[in-house]
Amino acid sequence: MRTQVVIIGGGPSGLLLSQLLHRRGVDTIVLERKTREYVLSRIRAGILEVGFVELMREAAVAERMDRECFVHDGIIISDGDEQFQISFKELTGSHVVVYGQTEVTRDLYDVREAGTGKIVFNTEHVAIHDTETIAPYVTYSSDGTEHRIDCDFVAGCDGFHGISRQTIPLSVRIEYEKLYPFGWLGVLSETPPVSDELIYSGSNRGFALCSMRNENLSRYYIQCSLSDSPDDWTDDAFWTELKRRIPSTAAEQLVTGPSIEKSIAPLRSFVTEPMRWGRLFLCGDAAHIVPPTGAKGLNTAASDIHYLYHALVQFFEAGETDGIDRYSEKALARIWKAERFSWWMTNLLHRFPEQSDFDLKMQRADIEFLRSNREAQSVLAQNYVGLPY
Ligand code: APR
Ligand code: PHB
Repeated sequence: MRTQVVIIGGGPSGLLLSQLLHRRGVDTIVLERKTREYVLSRIRAGILEVGFVELMREAAVAERMDRECFVHDGIIISDGDEQFQISFKELTGSHVVVYGQTEVTRDLYDVREAGTGKIVFNTEHVAIHDTETIAPYVTYSSDGTEHRIDCDFVAGCDGFHGISRQTIPLSVRIEYEKLYPFGWLGVLSETPPVSDELIYSGSNRGFALCSMRNENLSRYYIQCSLSDSPDDWTDDAFWTELKRRIPSTAAEQLVTGPSIEKSIAPLRSFVTEPMRWGRLFLCGDAAHIVPPTGAKGLNTAASDIHYLYHALVQFFEAGETDGIDRYSEKALARIWKAERFSWWMTNLLHRFPEQSDFDLKMQRADIEFLRSNREAQSVLAQNYVGLPY
């Protein structure tokens, strides 16, 4: 079998790249180790930068998103009962879009499968070969049969636990990592959101976030211990703690209900360099991870896909290589800025176990400066809506 680009991973990165390339006549095959149902069962964030929205439109897969999404012109930052808005519209003229990542992935599957998309599910033992030559190939097994796909390029879109990053020799690869001493306990409930805009709360009991998916589907998080498990938290205990961490005006209006999903995610900052090894390119979570505080996970994958899509089209249409030669440098330049912003927001709004009284004073001074300084708010707004590609 032969194709132009083998894409490993059928998450949002791999599917979006596949659809974008398809529209420019570039042939791809997506290899996904799970089933479509399993991939779509994952609960992920739902904040999209305008850059991601524009990529979805360019991929001709934005119709339902445009119909069902919510446009948000700002967020609310709270510290106890004090709260203030960061107005993206006023400070940047831009906004973000609320549309669940699961819906993004669903839309991408639908459009790929309605067209000529070649997606192989339940693949096993995927391995990438000869990436340092101009004739790389990928092997995998499926239904007990071994397969080989010869190609021009391989896109590693297989997430943090995938094999693509491991294909780059350790002697070449540099990994940067920071683990945070807490997790996020997330609850999905079929209840109306407590606020029209997201509330990021840096309370003295720990971080909390009030988010949403639609007018009757809300997503809430509270910072929790890494030793916690979801079963340690009844719904009542979760709602009680959330109410203690958000402004009292919001707590009074909060509509609670049974959790339809409850999970704990650890927080990590991670980047691997380089994001290219010969004919192999890493995209999205395969190359980098951010703590979810800045809502950058999918949005950092988007800029990788933007750079790689244009680089591959340039190669196939014009035979030029400066796009693929500069991919890693350009992708990492934007990734590191998103890593900094996500790390900064995480430090601003979470309580750290070893925090001294002085550290707490610094945190409060940071929030007070943000509350009272327009330029500080503009810096947050520019990063949250998304820096230019
Ligand atoms: N072979 C084939 N598929 C694989 C392999 C493998 N060896 N390893 C992982 N995969 C698949 C996973 O099953 C998953 O569906 O690759 C896909 C990777 O998808 P994501 O982890 O969602 O990563 P990405 O597409 O880059 O999306 C990034 O999703 O996880 C969130 O927070 C993240 O918002 C960010 C976005
Ligand atoms: C979410 O809606 O799941 C969400 C929103 C904003 C974040 C993180 C998660 O920063």
